[in-house]
Amino acid sequence: MKLLLINTSPHAEGATDRALSIAAEEWNRLGGESEIFFCKSGPTFSCIACGLCKHGDGCFYQDAVNELRPLCKTADAFIFASPVHYGGASATAKSVMGRLLRSSGDLLRKKPAFAVAIGRRAGHIGTLCEMEKFFAFNEMPIATSNYFTILRAGKREDVDADTEGVGALKLATKNLFWLADLITKDRNSAKG
Ligand SMILES: Cc1cc2nc3c(=O)[nH]c(=O)nc-3n(C[C@H](O)[C@H](O)[C@H](O)COP(=O)(O)O)c2cc1C
Repeated sequence: MKLLLINTSPHAEGATDRALSIAAEEWNRLGGESEIFFCKSGPTFSCIACGLCKHGDGCFYQDAVNELRPLCKTADAFIFASPVHYGGASATAKSVMGRLLRSSGDLLRKKPAFAVAIGRRAGHIGTLCEMEKFFAFNEMPIATSNYFTILRAGKREDVDADTEGVGALKLATKNLFWLADLITKDRNSAKG
């Protein structure tokens, strides 16, 4: 089973990447394969409601959203991670998640996911809520943990020190694996 982890931070190797690496290691330990996708910073576009994606060719803007399309097709589960920016999800997270689900939602529908928020001090819960809405509006089961999937970290080196956050992240990954396995088996039995 393949896990796609999406980093919406401006830093390719910052705290968000470290959190995703921990989740990827856990997924791989369980026997799956994983890929971390970095969205890159740059102009961040909102959906312009042009309707081009209705023809099935992806988003009008040629950026991370369209690069993600083939990866979403083969993925069985997703983790979207965002740094906390001004108490909410990064503009990249909102832009990518919104346009990806609008233009390629069928490639993610009925596949499980969860979100992770990484911030130095505060605003993690608002960030999680912003991201989880995208799953809820696209029929994606959300894998849960025994606490919030948040990490209190201002930089990469701080992530592992938040042992409670790391524990919740690993458990959410384990539950994501369990859900993805159930869903994949169900899909295969329906086909057969
Ligand atoms: C523009 C901006 C706004 C931020 N706002 C917050 C905030 O509201 N709350 C918080 O706890 N951290 C805030 N931070 C800190 C980052 O969330 C934190 O440094 C995080 O670890 C960065 O992850 P990264 O290394 O993957 O980019 C902000 C950082 C930036 C650049």
